[in-house]
Amino acid sequence: MNPRVLITAGPTREFIDPVRYLSNRSSGKMGYALAAAAQEVGAAVTVISGPTNQTAPEPVVIVPVISAEEMATAVAEQSPQADIIIMAAAVCDFRPRSRSPQKIKKAAFGMQLDLEATPDILSTLGRSKRVGQLLVGFALETADLVDNARAKLQQKNVDLIIANHADALDADRNQVTVLDRSGNIEEWPEMTKKQLAQRLIERIVQAWHS
Ligand code: CTP
Repeated sequence: MNPRVLITAGPTREFIDPVRYLSNRSSGKMGYALAAAAQEVGAAVTVISGPTNQTAPEPVVIVPVISAEEMATAVAEQSPQADIIIMAAAVCDFRPRSRSPQKIKKAAFGMQLDLEATPDILSTLGRSKRVGQLLVGFALETADLVDNARAKLQQKNVDLIIANHADALDADRNQVTVLDRSGNIEEWPEMTKKQLAQRLIERIVQAWHS
């Protein structure tokens, strides 16, 4: 049986006013490469995508979103039907507590932004995970890669964590360490995101079958 795969990709944008937003350097390349690789092995693939320039091969279904809140809502709608969920999106952790309906004038220079946490989508999925559903997260770190990734694996109740460094953002190549719930830690060589996506999908589908 071919799995139904749900992938999140790209950054989110958290608006300050109608003109400005908080976001991050994510390009969506990894998430879209995973979508193409999953589609190649016969999976039915849906991508919940933040704003990116990436394209996916037919018949991959794209659900476009902008903010973390919209991504959380779309994931809540789509996730019950998915056998494998891969959270490759770089979801903004913070958003402005309020969004100004008008452009903030520069006379407000020196202003302070009041921020609040966005929903942690992966943690929510980890709490509602059903039998037979495989949950894969990413960990983006600038220090203590394996320790931080292991903590996320446990705290968010995921089955696999793909740990990578911040220089993976917007790059064509990536080097990852894959951690599973049995305590295995696999340090993979650097490769293109396309090659990496193919190998990751193979690893993920194999984990789902077992
Ligand atoms: N994630 C999520 N919702 C958020 C933030 C992150 O679902 N609001 C997911 C990401 O898609 C990724 C995983 O959680 O799969 C880890 O994201 P990462 O940015 O590495 O870690 P954070 O949970 O944001 O923790 P920290 O900022 O402390 O590193």
